[in-house]
Amino acid sequence: MNPQPRRRTFNTPAPPASPFPYHPGSLLSILDLSVDGVSRLLARATELEKQDPLKRNRILAKRRIALLFYESSTRTRTSFELAAKALGADTTLVSNLSSSIEKGESLKDTGLTLRALGAEAIILRHNSSGAPWLLEQSARLPVLNAGDGMHEHPTQALLDLRTILAHLRPGVRALGADTLAGVTVTIVGDILHSRVARSNMLMLPRLGARVVLCGPKELLPETATQSATGTLPRRQGPAAGGVEIERDFEEAMRESQAIMMLRIQAERLAGLQLDLEEYKAGYQLTGQRLAAHAPKAIVMHPGPIIRGMEITAGVADGVQSTILEQVTNGVAIRMAVVERALTAGVPSDRSPSPGWKEGGRA
Ligand code: NCD
Repeated sequence: MNPQPRRRTFNTPAPPASPFPYHPGSLLSILDLSVDGVSRLLARATELEKQDPLKRNRILAKRRIALLFYESSTRTRTSFELAAKALGADTTLVSNLSSSIEKGESLKDTGLTLRALGAEAIILRHNSSGAPWLLEQSARLPVLNAGDGMHEHPTQALLDLRTILAHLRPGVRALGADTLAGVTVTIVGDILHSRVARSNMLMLPRLGARVVLCGPKELLPETATQSATGTLPRRQGPAAGGVEIERDFEEAMRESQAIMMLRIQAERLAGLQLDLEEYKAGYQLTGQRLAAHAPKAIVMHPGPIIRGMEITAGVADGVQSTILEQVTNGVAIRMAVVERALTAGVPSDRSPSPGWKEGGRA
């Protein structure tokens, strides 16, 4: 068997120790948030969603937010932008294809430039795992991770959670370690390259859910559960969630209340050969499979979906699908996250928070 190239290793090293404290408004990893913190953000998302748009528009009136995107995006970028604008902020998009990034400008210099232009927070999507940590420390602004390489996508995990709760725990207000006890969420497909899978498997078990990872060995290495289990608090009793691997899709489906399908990330396959017909035979979510093995489960997908590959059109458009609901939930979640970025720990006169002092930077 060929050894796997290094960049295909699933477990990303921990970010380097930082010379500066991270800004309390940054959201780099889902683990930046306690269960209480997640609970508060979800509650705030609901409040903001219900608020009168004219009143909501004053919350971040004229504050400046930069969206810095080194990878393509439809849902994440648009919903962050709409969320920031719904709070009254001014947004500007910098993409790698139409900026000086194409000329070779570094992430650090791009961050410093955005800061010099008055950006008060940066929303970053980057193809390298760990890039948001580097940007945070060099630009010294709150940074929101909109997806970094194969690593994390914390706001996606939050919007997925909002969707799961709406269907499986309606009416729950405060979250705790057993809110999702008895719930099995199966994540299916290209787990190896999925930052969505990673953030979800880091978060859902902290609320008591059982996460089952399902896929072929090429896309789901045996080590995939390690990064998640190391972060779980020791807990006793039936509420203790966990992360497991089940290679048999239909077996996993039978135990699931939520099935989260993933796209095969062709852009990150790095030469990996995959027999797509074999993949579909084992892991495609078809109407027949769904009816036979999980007729009550919700069907989730972070998008973009590839109809006819990981999911059939009938299932994507079917009654069990929550795909578009997830997209809508993204706006509410991102309003709460953007608001937190510009207000967390910072007094209303906007002076820097303690531990987040200006100056002293080379
Ligand atoms: C995903 C991403 O970019 O991580 N999509 C998203 O943000 N909603 C998943 C993917 O690209 O397949």
